[in-house]
Amino acid sequence: MIESVIAGNWKMNKTIAEAVGFASRLREALGASPGPEVIVAPPFTALRAVAEVLRGSAVRLAAQNLHEAEKGAYTGEISGGMLREAGCQYVIIGHSERRTLFSEGNDAVNLKLRAALAAGLKPIFCIGETLREREEDRTKTVIERQLKEGLNNLTAGDIGRSLFAYEPVWAIGTGRTATPEQAEEVHRFIREWIAGQYGRGSAEELAILYGGSVTPANIASLMLQQDINGALVGGASLDVESFLQVVRYNNIQEV
Ligand code: 13P
Repeated sequence: MIESVIAGNWKMNKTIAEAVGFASRLREALGASPGPEVIVAPPFTALRAVAEVLRGSAVRLAAQNLHEAEKGAYTGEISGGMLREAGCQYVIIGHSERRTLFSEGNDAVNLKLRAALAAGLKPIFCIGETLREREEDRTKTVIERQLKEGLNNLTAGDIGRSLFAYEPVWAIGTGRTATPEQAEEVHRFIREWIAGQYGRGSAEELAILYGGSVTPANIASLMLQQDINGALVGGASLDVESFLQVVRYNNIQEV
């Protein structure tokens, strides 16, 4: 049984003070109550302060990016070791905004995945097709290539320490969510691809999150799909009460 995961990607939002306020409220609201694994990904500047607030709680901390080198002359970059020291357990890698706005290709993503794992961080490996690719019926070809090239030289053990996120680019920040069936079809494809490359055991244990306009209104129906194990939430993760509603998607179902 895969544990569900709800992760909030704050992108370039929140001051340190705002991030600390959010984390305090999240910690207080979740307490020791059982539920999905909860992860928040603040901007770099707020990581340390949020880590202090979340210390001893079940909420986990993620960074949004890293540089593949351990250290050196890379002005403006941050290494995996630095993120660990700041209190991160996870790091988002290959987000579509990094791929499109900052020209990160599959090879760069592969180096970052390896660097994260080497630093003892768990990657949240993001993949997804653009609208054009979907309309041209190339979704699976694109996803397969992102998997093949992104995961080059990774072992089954590495996959076991990773989360995957399927984020169709056309659904990010657009209010246009993939239907549960559209998302499920790609999630299943990803799991079958992993089974083919790394064995059925790796595939069955892999948590695959869906991302793209997830809200309290659609999370429950997405989570009903067999191969959707969680969500990577952008806009709806910025307000703590709406993020808590997503985290408590089970209660939404019962209402
Ligand atoms: P939205 O939830 O704002 O569409 O963003 C999704 C996302 O990019 C999460 O990483």
